[in-house]
Amino acid sequence: MTLLDPFFTPFTCKSLKVANRFMMAPMSRYFAPGGILTQESIDYYRRRIEGGVGAVITEGVGVDRPGAVAADTVPVFAGEEGLAAWDKARAEIHAAGGAIIPQLWHVGGCEDFNYPDSPHPPLESPSGLVGPGIAGGKPMTQQDIDGAIASFVRGACDASRLGFDAIELHGAHGYLFDQFFWDVTNQRDDRFGGPSIASRARFAVETVAAVREAVGPDLAIIFRISQWKTYLYEAKIATSPAELAEWLVPLAEAGVDIFHCSERRFWESAFPDEGDLNLAGWTKKITGKPTITVGSIGLDRDLMEDFVAGESVPTLKSLDELARRFDRGDFDLVAVGRALLADPNWLMKVRTNAVSELLPYSRATMDVLY
Ligand SMILES: Cc1cc2nc3c(=O)[nH]c(=O)nc-3n(C[C@H](O)[C@H](O)[C@H](O)COP(=O)(O)O)c2cc1C
Repeated sequence: MTLLDPFFTPFTCKSLKVANRFMMAPMSRYFAPGGILTQESIDYYRRRIEGGVGAVITEGVGVDRPGAVAADTVPVFAGEEGLAAWDKARAEIHAAGGAIIPQLWHVGGCEDFNYPDSPHPPLESPSGLVGPGIAGGKPMTQQDIDGAIASFVRGACDASRLGFDAIELHGAHGYLFDQFFWDVTNQRDDRFGGPSIASRARFAVETVAAVREAVGPDLAIIFRISQWKTYLYEAKIATSPAELAEWLVPLAEAGVDIFHCSERRFWESAFPDEGDLNLAGWTKKITGKPTITVGSIGLDRDLMEDFVAGESVPTLKSLDELARRFDRGDFDLVAVGRALLADPNWLMKVRTNAVSELLPYSRATMDVLY
């Protein structure tokens, strides 16, 4: 029995059936001219399944609403051509034996982090803010909110109709849902704002409820959360387990099946005064739902350090800790980002301890799809 054997067991949650516990984390690649995914990207995703991971969570894909994404090379999950390309990706991933989950994305008021000068329709956000004193997007009216919810519902229905295995709603990293969650960016005085995290979660709760009602009981809904924002790494939405419960229990009750808990380093305690559970551990404990953990698995440096530095060295040293937490039942699934972006065969090599053969990740890796 090797360290990773427990991860090579199947996982099932409603429509989502995965052969093992490893998933590719959602990573924007900007290789979709005019918002249409190309065969090159499909091949890139299929290679990760051929390399052994159970499921691909796709890069963020724009929902069917103007300004949902802020760069014209981000793929969209809308329109005949856009959906046909994604359906081809689905068919090829399924033929290779994997599961595929589109990550439905609305950036809210955020310009694109990587391509701030890319042309895009006007943006919208809860209160015209994307950070402390940082303006972004036009404050949304009730009609805008209804329209945004409807665009997530359309995306989810299309995913279900086309036979995707689940959907993921991108509620993390400072984008639309997160702009509602965070008091700094949500200064509304209607029922979508207010001093409690429960009231600021209402937009997401109503979206999840509308999606659940439209797709029926079987499609697995994954919701991605984070404390940190692309603009501010130390930001926190929940400062205690009690606040985490106020935030996430209503989402679970509205229909979320799995929470994807984005952290920069999976081994860090979410609430250091309360023991060593990470965000996925606390979320599972509080909601009773399966969770996905992520963050610096297989690498020596976290993703924000990578934006300013050179090459990340592949390492297996954190895998003991990953296995310890998994055996304890803290989470059910593991998402791997940069290590898999750099090496489609990362999992096979890690399983056989072929560390010296692992391809390293660097910013330059971002410029090519392979
Ligand atoms: C190039 C790149 C693009 C990313 N794009 C997305 C995205 O579209 N949606 C998302 O939720 N997270 C995105 N992330 C965050 C990753 O999903 C993941 O949480 C993060 O990289 C930490 O995992 P890792 O340490 O294994 O890379 C991106 C990360 C990278 C490196």
